[in-house]
Amino acid sequence: MTKRVAILISGRGSNMRSLVEAMQADDFSAQPVLVLSNRPDAAGLDYARAAGIPATIVDHTEFKMREVFDAAIHSKLAKAQADIICLAGFMRLLTPGFVKKWTGRMINIHPSLLPKYPGLHTHQRAIDAGDTEAGCTVHYVVPEMDAGEIIGQARVPILHGDTADTLAERVIKQEHTLYPECLRTLCAK
Ligand code: GRF
Repeated sequence: MTKRVAILISGRGSNMRSLVEAMQADDFSAQPVLVLSNRPDAAGLDYARAAGIPATIVDHTEFKMREVFDAAIHSKLAKAQADIICLAGFMRLLTPGFVKKWTGRMINIHPSLLPKYPGLHTHQRAIDAGDTEAGCTVHYVVPEMDAGEIIGQARVPILHGDTADTLAERVIKQEHTLYPECLRTLCAK
């Protein structure tokens, strides 16, 4: 069965793009059915529209309560008949009620080797700690931030003289391979 995949973004959308491109392969039994952004100016929306994928905005600034914002997202996902949600640089915390509805069907990519460095500024924190390697993690989403079961990880070295930007460039290349691989694993289940 072809899985119907929704991708939630807030910005650039480079991971979304790698997922969409990967799903074009004949042996990848998934199709992107919705790209949803909480920010009207997310650059990734343009790519989605150009690729012919339904793209929609649920602007969080128009909602006072997180529960109502999440219900609006849920309604879009239900209309699109999504089976799986991929969070791809989606910068809003989702409420436990929403997360529970999608248990085992919602995954996220995070730019660190979890459980190290949940949250923001992961690359700078890895450099500041004197780590010799960094990386990215794809995991199931649970109500606690960046804490769900790990599906896959990719590692890169931290090189002498690295800045958060140079390290981010090295890590994002791995993200673009790891995320499609992990989605493929989930779709095959
Ligand atoms: C990525 O580094 C991802 O790991 C993190 O947010 C960033 C999103 O980048 N969750 P992009 O929008 O996919 O280019």
